[in-house]
Amino acid sequence: MVRVRTSLAQLPAYVPGRKVPGAVVLASNESPYGLLPGVAATLTELAGGMSRYPDLSATALVQAIAGHHEVEPDRIAVGAGSSEVCGQLLHSVVGFGDEVVFGWRSFEAYPILTAVAGGVAVRVPLLDHALDLDAMAAAITDRTRLVFVCNPNNPTSTAVGERALLDFADRVPEDVLIVVDEAYREYADPALVPDALALLGDRPNVVVLRTFSKAYGLAGLRVGYCVAPPWIAAHVRKTQVPFSVSALAQEAAVVALGERAEVARRAALTVVERERVTLMLHALGFEVPDSQANFVWLPLADESADFAVHCLGGHVVVRPFLGEGVRVTIGLPQENEAFLDLAATWRG
Ligand SMILES: Cc1ncc(COP(=O)(O)O)c(C=O)c1O
Repeated sequence: MVRVRTSLAQLPAYVPGRKVPGAVVLASNESPYGLLPGVAATLTELAGGMSRYPDLSATALVQAIAGHHEVEPDRIAVGAGSSEVCGQLLHSVVGFGDEVVFGWRSFEAYPILTAVAGGVAVRVPLLDHALDLDAMAAAITDRTRLVFVCNPNNPTSTAVGERALLDFADRVPEDVLIVVDEAYREYADPALVPDALALLGDRPNVVVLRTFSKAYGLAGLRVGYCVAPPWIAAHVRKTQVPFSVSALAQEAAVVALGERAEVARRAALTVVERERVTLMLHALGFEVPDSQANFVWLPLADESADFAVHCLGGHVVVRPFLGEGVRVTIGLPQENEAFLDLAATWRG
């Protein structure tokens, strides 16, 4: 009998948001606005070239990302979504039995990818639905190799501010990699939520993770990246599955970066809707932590599963985390309205 790794036996599988045909899907934090106009045209144009391998080094994309952030290209490493880049970072620094610290609950891929890399997950409970950076710093031991700081945090939507992030970074030893995951950066208020690259980008142990899956509307094409010190980026490149970022994904991401104004316009629409949805939910008596992302968090605890079933009954798919809460992605105004109608009829 083939023996599988025991560390993987207890590992929960990643639970994706449900896809229910015909329903309003507010479960995966995707952009509701579809492809950016230039991206749609590019995809049609390139489809005929798919019998060829993509550029292994994603040269044009890496250059475009470097230009976007005004850094040298040797600081960029790409992957098939920032999920793959999370894994690449773990494979670069985590050895068997090494510890990886993150807040919990946070992005559900962190414990899975940590176990796959042979590491040990150290989950630090949230405080008032937000990362408890003091407790996270205190959880770092001699065995710790990497810390994920998800800012804003998925699924609770809250963000940590500049002072707290700086103080935290000062407390983390230089041989521990701090990965600031900014998947939802475009939806955050820059006056409240620091840009980790601007704040900490010159530190030798800080990496910033970004994705094209959310505000850039490319979730289905799978492309993400990190900005890191050059020698770390070099290792992250080595741990990428060869050719994992397809030619379509590379080209689409380059075009998407060129549509910065439209990306910002769409993100602003989502923020307006987020504030409206939050106000309405407050008026209905729901607790809703302040969101800096493209979703809101309803800490419904034991009622989470029932609430999700109630929404599904009205053909709206939300994302329950059993016993904890429900995450609801901000969609188009009419989709949010359908959700709010259901929230209003919850408990009669
Ligand atoms: C916090 C966070 N990081 C990373 C990702 C990964 O996104 P992707 O792999 O699509 O880039 C997600 C996706 O939901 C996320 O919520």
